[in-house]
Formats: sequence, structure tokens, C-alpha cells
Amino acid sequence: MTESSVASFYDEFSTRLIRDYVHGNRRVDAQLAFSIGAIPPAARRILIVGSGCGYEARRMAQRASADSTILAIDISSTNIARARQLQPHPRVEHRQADILADTIEPPWDVILLPDVYEHIPTEDRPTLHKVLHRLLADRGSLVLTLPSPRLQAYLKEQGQGLQVVDETVTHTDLAALAGDVGGVMTYFKLVSVWSVNDYMHVIIEREPDGFDPACAQTEAPIRHWRSDTWERRLWNALLSRSGIRRLQRWQRRRQVARRLGPAPEVMDPPGD
Ligand SMILES: C[S@@+](CC[C@H](N)C(=O)[O-])C[C@H]1O[C@@H](n2cnc3c(N)ncnc32)[C@H](O)[C@@H]1O
Repeated sequence: MTESSVASFYDEFSTRLIRDYVHGNRRVDAQLAFSIGAIPPAARRILIVGSGCGYEARRMAQRASADSTILAIDISSTNIARARQLQPHPRVEHRQADILADTIEPPWDVILLPDVYEHIPTEDRPTLHKVLHRLLADRGSLVLTLPSPRLQAYLKEQGQGLQVVDETVTHTDLAALAGDVGGVMTYFKLVSVWSVNDYMHVIIEREPDGFDPACAQTEAPIRHWRSDTWERRLWNALLSRSGIRRLQRWQRRRQVARRLGPAPEVMDPPGD
């Protein structure tokens, strides 16, 4: 798989990401709630790898410290162009870059891979791990969301829903990533988005405070995380029952049409 074929796949896929933004997507909602909760208040430099059309980067900038900066990179130039038009924020730089090939300046307090690690070919993982090792600050953390092996097995069986590169990633693979970046997996949780245990939410930290690495691979969830509170679940349930979601869809549809031009396939509700 060449870099350009991956980039052109995601240039095409960009419409799907815009559609997710307009109509909402439970996977993205869960990813955002987790990732925002996982950003330590002290984080000043945040790198998002595979930032898509920029929604997460802008939300992250709104919630992270006011003197933080965010670099949002994506291999697809279409995604990056759309992110700049649709989700501009003074503290976010959207940059077209391939994490495996392009030089990015370290260090980063937090590096997020939101549904991206599984799209890196297995044979390129050693390269990716070396890059992440170089980019991560001494006390930095990696935050990942990705499909569980169970979901990947189901998609492979169905023969649909998989992207150009869509690998299976196991808990063991994530522990290897932690080791390769000189960190420990301090959080691992199977999350149910569309079906039971279909996603994994993970935090890998370098030098975590007061944390016993000996426990890291045996307990799950390894640490309680605040994004998973009953208040958040109640708020989401209320939101989905109110008219707010419909209002939000209408407002986003207008925003996309104004900034990117009306695209019928984006305005239609998702068919899958
Ligand atoms: C499944 S999409 C996820 C997009 C967004 N983070 C989300 O959760 O909706 C994977 C993203 O990773 C990007 N990507 C894939 N390989 C990449 C690479 N080698 N370097 C940078 N970005 C990459 C794709 O262009 C795409 O936007």
C-alpha cells in the first residue's frame, strides 16, 4: 500500500467525515468525551494524528488550557483543506502530513490517535512506534481510541465497513506500543458504541505519578477515568431525547453549505 493510495482513499472518505459531523456519530461522541477527559490540565502542546476534517481539534482547543497549542495532522489534503475552512481555531494548526514519513517537531505533552492506529499497516508499526517515541515529551501521554478485535472480526466476516488499511489491534499490541514509547498502559477500557465491547479507549503514559507499572497489564480498567461519569451518561440521554440534536444538525448543515458549498451526499442522512 503506497502513501498516495492511502491519501487518495482518505480524500474520498472526507465526505463521510463531513457527513458524520453534520448528522452526528456515536463513535465520535464517545471518542471526544474520552479524549477531552484524558487531556491533563497541564498539557500545553497537543498533537492529533489523523485529525480528519478537524472537528476534534477545534473541540479540543475549546476545552484544553487557554495557552495550549494543537497541531492537527492528516495524510489527506482534502481533509486538511476542509478542516481549515470548516473548523478554524486560533490555537490549532491544520497540517497535511504522513505520520510515517514527514518530520514533525517534538516534544508533545499529549499525542492523540483517534481511530487511526488500526489504519497503520502492521509492518509499519515499528516505524510508527519510533516516531511516537521521538515526539512524546518526557512525561507525555498517548491517547488512543480504536475498534476492538471483536468488531474487526465481525467486519471482516461481513466483508464490508473496512477501510483501505484496517488492521486488528489487540491488548498485547497496545502493551507493545507502550513498551516501545517508554511508557505504561495506565488505562484500557472496552467501550460499547454500536454493539457490545466494539471499541477500545486507551491511555499510555510516560512516568505516570504514583502508578505501579506492575499492575498495568493485569487490571482493566486500570484507572478510573472521569469522562465515564453517570452525569455524562444522563446528559447524553437527555440530549438525544430533546430537540437539541435536530437543531444542531440544521445549524451544521448550514455551516457546511456556507463554508464548503452544498454537497448533496453530505446533507443526506447516513445510509449505513
Ligand atoms: C478513520 S479516520 C478517523 C478520522 C477522525 N480522527 C475520526 O475519528 O473521525 C482515519 C484518519 O487517519 C488519517 N490517516 C491515515 N493514515 C495516516 C498517516 N499515515 N498519517 C496521518 N494521517 C493518517 C486518515 O486520512 C483519516 O483522516
